Amino acid sequence: MSLVAEPLINYLRQLEAHGQTHVAIDDDVRPILREFFMRAQTGKRSSLEAPPAPIPAPAVVQESPELSAPKVSTTPQEALAEVIAAGNTKAEKINSLKQQAGNWQAAKSLGSLRQSMVFSTGNPDADVMLVGEAPGFDEERLLEPFVGKAGQKLDGILVAMGIDRKDVYLSNIVKFRPSMPNQTTNNRKPTAEEMAACLPFIHAEVDIVAPKVIIALGGTAAQALLATKESVGGMRGQFHQFAGIPLRVTYHPSYILHNEATSEKRKLWEDMLAVMDLLGMPISVKQREYFLPKPV
Ligand code: URA
Repeated sequence: MSLVAEPLINYLRQLEAHGQTHVAIDDDVRPILREFFMRAQTGKRSSLEAPPAPIPAPAVVQESPELSAPKVSTTPQEALAEVIAAGNTKAEKINSLKQQAGNWQAAKSLGSLRQSMVFSTGNPDADVMLVGEAPGFDEERLLEPFVGKAGQKLDGILVAMGIDRKDVYLSNIVKFRPSMPNQTTNNRKPTAEEMAACLPFIHAEVDIVAPKVIIALGGTAAQALLATKESVGGMRGQFHQFAGIPLRVTYHPSYILHNEATSEKRKLWEDMLAVMDLLGMPISVKQREYFLPKPV
């Protein structure tokens, strides 16, 4: 067996022994695997086997956390290759990601995030996926995204749309509460570095859930997903694309909690109406007219 193939095959056997049946591979690796296969068929020695020719790292898969420390991703392709979603059903795959997130060294090694991991909640088969920035005090306490005041506001928005919280998939870019000195109930936004460290998960979650639409809640989450520094005001009002899925940017529910102006509520609501239209949901006249000035 070749110098490269042997450790790779051993590693894949280890994954298989842990119950994993599939691995993500990136496009660069396909020709390498094809060459292994062709050489095995013809009995010829692979150029990849002959030192000192550079041996490509077995980057086909990111090793599972218990086997090695993962790296921080820089591109969606790398991100997808780094986390392994073991299992057959969507729920099993999400659960597998959750197990890995708890020990995600790229995030832990920053030293700026708290210990408890808060992954996602809701239905992995959902048509709608909502993405926030990071858990706060309440979410860390209950280990569930969007359960504090902003979460209650979000639940109200979903009810107004005719959607139950348990029927959407709800997640955050960062899976740990950002820490602060002398922290009690106070929260802070995640940094770009913290988001980059956790970004492989949201890519993998989108890949598994494959929702019909993604809603980015607030500028911080939207900026991380769309790799931009644009403001919410500049991003909202249209559909963007994330991994080929329509993505709507809207205000974070906490913005609406702190800004009671009807005009701002209407802007968020118009984003939700656009999502409902996209999904072909029935929209009543009452729903269409929420937060519009009443005729005098
Ligand atoms: N804000 C977020 O962005 N996510 C949460 O889970 C809670 C508040």
